[in-house]
Amino acid sequence: MDTPTNPNKALWEKGDFTQIADTMRESGEALVQKLGITRGLKVLDLGCGDGTTALPAAKLGADVLGVDVARNLVEAGNRRAAEHGLANCRFQEGDASNLQGLPDRGFDLVVSIFGAMFAPKPFDVAKEMVRVTRPGGRIVMGNWIPNDPTLVAQILRISSSYTPPPPEGFVSPMTWGVESNVTERFAAAGAPAENVSFVRDTFTFHFRGAPSGFLEAFRKYYGPTMNAFEAAEKAGRAADLQRELEDLFVSQNLSKENTRIPATFLRVTVAI
Ligand SMILES: C[S@@+](CC[C@H](N)C(=O)[O-])C[C@H]1O[C@@H](n2cnc3c(N)ncnc32)[C@H](O)[C@@H]1O
Repeated sequence: MDTPTNPNKALWEKGDFTQIADTMRESGEALVQKLGITRGLKVLDLGCGDGTTALPAAKLGADVLGVDVARNLVEAGNRRAAEHGLANCRFQEGDASNLQGLPDRGFDLVVSIFGAMFAPKPFDVAKEMVRVTRPGGRIVMGNWIPNDPTLVAQILRISSSYTPPPPEGFVSPMTWGVESNVTERFAAAGAPAENVSFVRDTFTFHFRGAPSGFLEAFRKYYGPTMNAFEAAEKAGRAADLQRELEDLFVSQNLSKENTRIPATFLRVTVAI
């Protein structure tokens, strides 16, 4: 019997997120520097992609497990860890909504930068993150913010206006960028509101080439944008989508020679 398709997994295996992740390495490293990582700290990176945050954490001496739903990204992460000689960094497939096989209280720090926000069942995600964190440990999430004027929130907003409405019951990943939702989800998982804090932070994308080339990378390799273009093509609106996104990328770019685009996100810290 065929296993039923998991649309969430299919979305992220569809493209090649490593092509976008390559433009995010500097901010990934800078973020990890702020996390107080010490030698031997047990870190779980959820929705880790190919290791933008997992590798820098391992370089600081942490013992890192990266978990991601996309097999191609897990493979890319393991390849990158080997290339960097990081025996203390490994990647495996798994779903943030159900971390079966990972022990209760097994990690000092659970990190999820633009990762777990994309998993279905947000209340289950919060519960699982709390379950695998040891008392005295921390959870740190990076979440894009709905209606924020910067790049990623706008890409997702524009893309959704070209795609068919999601199935009933679908909870938008962007709801993780709303403080009251985050507090409610962690409270339901047993971490009270006073243990949850929020900071607005910035992630900067660096692409070697013009903004139109960066957009091309999203069109070719980033699952949500690929889907938006497929739907727009069917509706004869691909040129409109291209124009809207090109305007966005050009207007957000701060570099004259290449592409440098800062994007605002919500950094969430939960003390367990
Ligand atoms: C925008 S990428 C971010 C990747 C990485 N954290 C980074 O900063 O480069 C989103 C990641 O979340 C992963 N993801 C989506 N849904 C997931 C789920 N249910 N469980 C685990 N990972 C998931 C995707 O496969 C993808 O690698």
